[in-house]
Amino acid sequence: MSTWTSDRVRATFLDYFGQRQHRVIPSLSLIPPGDPTLLFTNAGMVQFKDVFTGKGQVEYAAATTAQKCLRVSGKHNDLENVGRTARHHTFFEMLGNFSFGAYFKRGAIEAAWELVAKIYQLPIDRLWVTVHPTDDEARQLWREISGLPDERIKDDPDNFWSMGDTGPCGPCSEIYIDQGKALSGGAEVPFGEGGDRYLEFWNLVFMQFDRSADGVLTPLPRGCIDTGMGLERITALLQGKQSNYDSDVFQPLIQAAAKRAKINYGTGGESDVALRVIADHARSAAFLIADCVYPENEGRGYVIRRVMRRAMRFGRKVGLEDPFLVDVCAEVVRHMGGAYPELRAKAEVIERVVRQEEERFGRTLAAGLKRLEVAFDENQLTQVIPGTIAFELYDTHGFPLDLTQQACEERGFTVDEPGFHAAMDRQRAKGRASWKGTLDTAGDWAALRDSIGTTEFVGYAHDAVESTVLAVLEDGKAIVTAATPFYAESGGQVGDTGRIVGNGGVLIVEDTQRPIEGIVLHRGQLHGVLADGDSVRLEIDADARQSTRKNHSATHILHLALRTVLGDHVRQRGSLVGPNRLRFDFSHFGPLTGAEIQRIERLVNERVLANAPTRTDVVGKEEAVSRGAIAFFGDKYGDTVRMLTIGGDS
Ligand code: ALA
Repeated sequence: MSTWTSDRVRATFLDYFGQRQHRVIPSLSLIPPGDPTLLFTNAGMVQFKDVFTGKGQVEYAAATTAQKCLRVSGKHNDLENVGRTARHHTFFEMLGNFSFGAYFKRGAIEAAWELVAKIYQLPIDRLWVTVHPTDDEARQLWREISGLPDERIKDDPDNFWSMGDTGPCGPCSEIYIDQGKALSGGAEVPFGEGGDRYLEFWNLVFMQFDRSADGVLTPLPRGCIDTGMGLERITALLQGKQSNYDSDVFQPLIQAAAKRAKINYGTGGESDVALRVIADHARSAAFLIADCVYPENEGRGYVIRRVMRRAMRFGRKVGLEDPFLVDVCAEVVRHMGGAYPELRAKAEVIERVVRQEEERFGRTLAAGLKRLEVAFDENQLTQVIPGTIAFELYDTHGFPLDLTQQACEERGFTVDEPGFHAAMDRQRAKGRASWKGTLDTAGDWAALRDSIGTTEFVGYAHDAVESTVLAVLEDGKAIVTAATPFYAESGGQVGDTGRIVGNGGVLIVEDTQRPIEGIVLHRGQLHGVLADGDSVRLEIDADARQSTRKNHSATHILHLALRTVLGDHVRQRGSLVGPNRLRFDFSHFGPLTGAEIQRIERLVNERVLANAPTRTDVVGKEEAVSRGAIAFFGDKYGDTVRMLTIGGDS
């Protein structure tokens, strides 16, 4: 094996730029903080995007990173190809150098060429580059700096890189290596053809514009540089391997899985695919857990769940029945913990979370696969698995749709995907109906709102107000008014109770809902009659509200206590707050121990007994965060939030 270990390749890159006035910056988390547009960090430039546009500032003019990246959902999604090609991965590392005005095209090309030709010593006679057809400057610079003949400096109209639909972008230039005739079936094929023969391994982006939502390109305050080279690719090249999976990045993981399965890697069959999938997915799982993403049924948590369950199914194909992914993840920690200390710090959590998920899914996987076998028999003729079966596998056996699809594909079947979604929608509608009674559709509510206007909520300041009835619904049992002090059920807090008194009747309000933004619906028992346009007095049950409020404050105290005792990864997942009780759902990777529960109880009781004054301020979301608020601001919150301070130091 060559002396270019992946650790050395990475360190060489960072040292090279570090010694040339680049600040070596640690990798950003896989979860881009404060960027709801991106599910996962998918390029090295993510942590510098505001610096490029001039919105953010840093105290250095150039930086270099080895960035953890994930391409497993959304626009960049490599999941289906993983294991079947030489180079698709869900998790990978991107080496990059970045300039914020320190240098531009010349500096970027000079550095890249020196590193590639002199330091990594790739064979110059096999290197090619591409530039954007309009970028004469870059073409000229490559000629001058590399001395490559003109025929190996190619135009490529695709050489324009943008972060997404909006944001920093610009023309780019890519460096390729010719891996030889063997990869084009022995034929001399022109550049750009022949499958894997001409392999792109480094992309230099000349950031020049900021793209707005309407597609207009505005020049950036100054030309910037963003480059990206996949560590897995350059390592394989330097080790003389044609597949990334044959390099030392993956081999220890593949070998660990092969050993567990008591098989050999390299037979060229389906078992090799399975071992590659397991190695790739173990990396994603370990790194995601280290960044506090745990298996769940939605969002990022569902991505990791899908990846882990997929790995487990591939494990079954090579006879791995017992928890095994946990061992491969431990190998990831051993192998990569030097470069990424968070893996070592979270080793125990990774082990617990992976084991738990394996045990949980392990129980239903076999039954699900059996069900699928029956479905294959039943649908031999059409070779299509009905959506209802795919949904049953999802709902009863925990099979993510893509897992079912993959399993079907391998047998030449497809899944009726619209049928699956229809079954899912039916289940959701049933769920909605069971808690919302027989309310009409959102469209009907929107139409009603258009015709009657909205309800003003005044309940933070008043327990009772005079107002006018805007609509009487559900046989008089539900009423909408122009203003209300009644708090509608939201965020797990139950709706207020109380009464609405008019000249002709009284509604004893048992529940308050907000069926659509802007409409507050009071429901209950009607005595007498109330009609549109009536003047009424709305009074909440102030005692019940006060008790609910106390229980609401208690959720915040509990949240803080959980984070203090269990760690900052604890996230509120939901809660139910009523006058008589509260329930608080949170994410943590395992059951609590008795000692943990005791400590949490003690902390909560201390706070309650301290009877500290509470204060509510309406502040900007950013101010709340900077003052230490621990809510998790998603789109549920507006730009301003009501910030609750309990005592002095929370
Ligand atoms: N941001 C560029 C890429 O991802 C370097 O290719």
